Amino acid sequence: MHIVFAASECVPFAKTGGLADVVGALPPELVKLGHKVTVYLPLYQQVRKHLPDAPTTVIPSITIPFEFYNRFPSIVDGGQRAGVQYYFVNCPELFDRPELYGPKGSEYPDNAERFALFSRAVVEASKLLGVPEVFHVHDWQAALIPVYLRTTYYYDPAFQHSSTILTVHNAGYQGWFPPKTTEQLLFPWDLFTMDKLEHFDTFNFLKGGIVYSDLVTTVSKKYAEEIRTVEFGNNLENVFNRRGADLRGILNGVDYTEWNPATDKHIPAHFTPQDLTGKDACRNELVAEFNLKPLMNSTPLLGIVSRFASQKGFDMIAQIAASLDQRDLALVVLGSGEGSYERFFRNWAAARPDRVGVSIGYNDALAHRIEAGADIFLMPSRYEPCGLNQIYSLKYGTVPVVRATGGLDDTIDEWEPSTQQGTGFKFLGYSPADLLAAIDRALAAYAKPNSWHRLMLNGMGKEYSWAIAAKEYATLYDEAAARRV
Ligand code: ADP
Ligand code: GLC
Repeated sequence: MHIVFAASECVPFAKTGGLADVVGALPPELVKLGHKVTVYLPLYQQVRKHLPDAPTTVIPSITIPFEFYNRFPSIVDGGQRAGVQYYFVNCPELFDRPELYGPKGSEYPDNAERFALFSRAVVEASKLLGVPEVFHVHDWQAALIPVYLRTTYYYDPAFQHSSTILTVHNAGYQGWFPPKTTEQLLFPWDLFTMDKLEHFDTFNFLKGGIVYSDLVTTVSKKYAEEIRTVEFGNNLENVFNRRGADLRGILNGVDYTEWNPATDKHIPAHFTPQDLTGKDACRNELVAEFNLKPLMNSTPLLGIVSRFASQKGFDMIAQIAASLDQRDLALVVLGSGEGSYERFFRNWAAARPDRVGVSIGYNDALAHRIEAGADIFLMPSRYEPCGLNQIYSLKYGTVPVVRATGGLDDTIDEWEPSTQQGTGFKFLGYSPADLLAAIDRALAAYAKPNSWHRLMLNGMGKEYSWAIAAKEYATLYDEAAARRV
């Protein structure tokens, strides 16, 4: 079967978060199952360094009409990797910019136009480069593809047998735009109603995708349930409920060629469940890299790698910072995003330079070194559709402390000292006291080296391989395709 992926991020070309990891890793697994997979991405500035100086243009011009003008993107051949074909939508005036979505903490004002153009260009390009049985589109940035196919492209004979699957990686980002976007993108006004694209008087890309896709998936079973509730639905719970019969949760996998302490090219020493000595070296170097005071073995090193967004629960960490200062632990943090969290972590590190180290920015190699060198990984998210870092942590023997939500709840089991079962520490309420209690349980377990060793090995033995998830997606592709034969 031919599957077209359309997404706004993909490793190694362009990444801000886990979406890129998923769109990078799933297609090669589908190829291994015998499918043909084509991935479309916008040709951002970041993508250029992965292309030859004079890349091949496979479609020199596609006309994309807007209300008062046309734009003319071209399609650039990104070549094949691991059997997957990559194409880039090249529209320099929209994509040749320093950021993917906007300067720090803000959005480019023309994002509706940017991602509508991307989506429509994928539809048009596929007519020339290969119409798939399934368009698998990701998040709001590609969510207009199913809308186009079932509305303004309804009578296009090319797509009579193409089905659509939307994967929602994060319902907190929906692509909300003013009502006049309807006209700007040349949709008829009768699509701007509450059962279609209108949502509290905004034009909502994600809602359109949910309404018009054949199937909707999200990235863990728990989150697939949560988004049907007021607490997690981000005002789309009724829309998700309406599609309840077609809504599925498939847990993400991990690319263990990238995230494996036995082979990781970014870490100072390798280690395995059989020989953990390399982890000590990783820990010591990490402590030195952050200029912390050398740690006794009895002092655990906590780690955080994250986008700094309200989703991730840092407001709770801020509320327990003073209590953590009273405990015998150290902390290293890598992240960037909202200014208030950057300032909070910077100030904390300035006040406790011996014990708290912070690096503001995006740094893939350092993310690996933190996974490898920390003893405990903190991920107290308010909500977490899947979450990848806690799964990476398991493989590196870095014990996760997580809130029991979404994929965090599906992937981490509470440590039971009596049975020596479990892989981490979970808390349910979104409360600083509950987070602190979970950290205290982790500290108490850390104080008993033999059982801590068992706990590390429990996590290191877990496999979340993409092969399993890819089979689940393949079954869904069959289901979706069967609706459009
Ligand atoms: P989300 O997609 O919500 O950000 P995930 O846990 O699914 O959360 O994925 C985050 C991905 O982004 C991981 O691969 C993580 O290592 C990476 N990441 C996040 N912040 C940074 C950063 N500051 N530097 C390097 N990598 C980061
Ligand atoms: C989103 C979610 C994260 C998930 C990732 C990949 O960014 O916030 O939980 O792991 O997408 O699906």
